[in-house]
Amino acid sequence: MRKIALAVILASLSANSVADVEFLHWWTSKGEKKALDALEQQLLAHDIPLLPSPILGGGGDSAMTVLQARALAGNTPDIAQIEGPSIKAWDEVGIVHTINQTATEQGWDDNLYPLTININKTDNGYVALPITLHRLNWMWVNHDVLEKLELSVPKTWPEMFQAMETAKQNNVVPLAVGEQAWQVALLFESLVIANGGVDFYYKALVELQRDHIDSDQMRLALRQLRKIANLVPAQQPNQNWDTATQALIDDQALFQLGGDWILGDLLASDVSVPQKIGCYPAPQSHNAFLYNMDSFLFMAASDFTQQQATQVANALADKKFQARFNQIKGSIPVRTDIDLQDFNPCQIQSHQDFVQATEKGLAVPSMTDSMAVNPVAQQAINSEIFRYYRSSEVTEDEVLKRIISIAKST
Ligand code: BGC
Repeated sequence: MRKIALAVILASLSANSVADVEFLHWWTSKGEKKALDALEQQLLAHDIPLLPSPILGGGGDSAMTVLQARALAGNTPDIAQIEGPSIKAWDEVGIVHTINQTATEQGWDDNLYPLTININKTDNGYVALPITLHRLNWMWVNHDVLEKLELSVPKTWPEMFQAMETAKQNNVVPLAVGEQAWQVALLFESLVIANGGVDFYYKALVELQRDHIDSDQMRLALRQLRKIANLVPAQQPNQNWDTATQALIDDQALFQLGGDWILGDLLASDVSVPQKIGCYPAPQSHNAFLYNMDSFLFMAASDFTQQQATQVANALADKKFQARFNQIKGSIPVRTDIDLQDFNPCQIQSHQDFVQATEKGLAVPSMTDSMAVNPVAQQAINSEIFRYYRSSEVTEDEVLKRIISIAKST
C-alpha cells in the first residue's frame, strides 16, 4: 500500500510537472478577477496550478514597489505583471527568463504589432509576454442618465463642462473619479491631448521637454482639472476606479473617463454595452489612441527554471486564450491575427481606432500608466498633479515648476 502511495506521489512530481506558479499582479476588480479566472483555467488545463499574489492598487504602482522589494530580498514571484519600459530595465538587471522559444513557435515577429515587439523585445530577444492592449482615452457615458438630463454626448471640453454642470444641478455625480494619483493624472493626460494634440502631449509628458511643460496648453489643462475638482462632489478618499464605475452602473453618475478595464467591469456586471453605457473617445481626442500594455515577466529563480517558464509562456501565448482573455478584460489583443468579430462593439471600435491611429502616428503611450518615463519620475509627476487636484492652494506655476524639476532629474 505504502509503495503504491509513493509511486503516485513520484508520478505527480514527474520532470514535466510544474509546482504552484506564483503570479504577482494588481487585478482585483470584478472584471479583472474574471479575466484572471480564465487565466487560471488556461494554466490548469496545462497542469500548471497558479498561485495569485494580488497587490491592491490599480495602475500597479504598489505592485511594482513590492516586486522591487522582493527582488532585493532575493524572493521574486515566478511571474509578474509589468508594463512598458520597466521590462527593459528588468532585463538589464539580468533576472528574467527569455521566452524566445515561445515567440518563435508563435511567429511573434510576424504577428505582433510593431509597438508590441518594441516593448517586449530587447537584444536578448523576447523578455516578456505581452497580453493586453488597453485604450485609455475613453469616455464612458450612462445613456439612461444622459437621456433623463436631456443631454447629448459631448464632443468638446466646453460641451463636457456644460453637461457636467447640468448633472450637478440635478444632483447627479457629473464624473465618476477614482480618487487616486494615477487616476487623476490619467484624466489630466486626456486634457493635455485635447488642448495640445498628440505631438504636444508626447513632447510635454513623454519626453518631458521643458518648453512644452511650461506652456499655455498645460496651464489650460490644469485649470480644467481644477474645474473638474470643483464640480465633482467630495468622494471617499482613495476611492478606487472600480468603485467609481459602480456609481456609473448604479445611475448615480453621468460620465467616467478612463481605460477599457472599465469595460471589463461593466461586462462582468452584465451591463449592456454600448446600449446602457456607451464608449466614446474622450472629448477632443477622437483620432488619438492613448495606450498601455500589460505584459508578464518570468523571473529566473532556482525554483522557476527556464523550462518551466517556457511551459507557462506557451500556455499563455496560445492564440485562442489571448482572444478569450482580452474579450473578458475589455482590452484588445496584442497580436494582429485575432478576429474580433465576437468582441464587444467598444472593443471593435477600439481596434479600428488603434489601427488608424498607428498609421497616422497618433497612438501614444500613457506616461501616467507606466508606458513612458521611469517609475520614480512617473510617480512623482502623478502625485504633483494629484496634489493640485486636491488642494486649491496649489498654483499652476507651482505644479509646472515641480514637473520641470522632476524632468531635470530623469
Ligand atoms: C493595467 C490594467 C488594469 C488597470 C486597473 C492598468 O495599469 O494595465 O490591466 O486593469 O491598471 O487596475
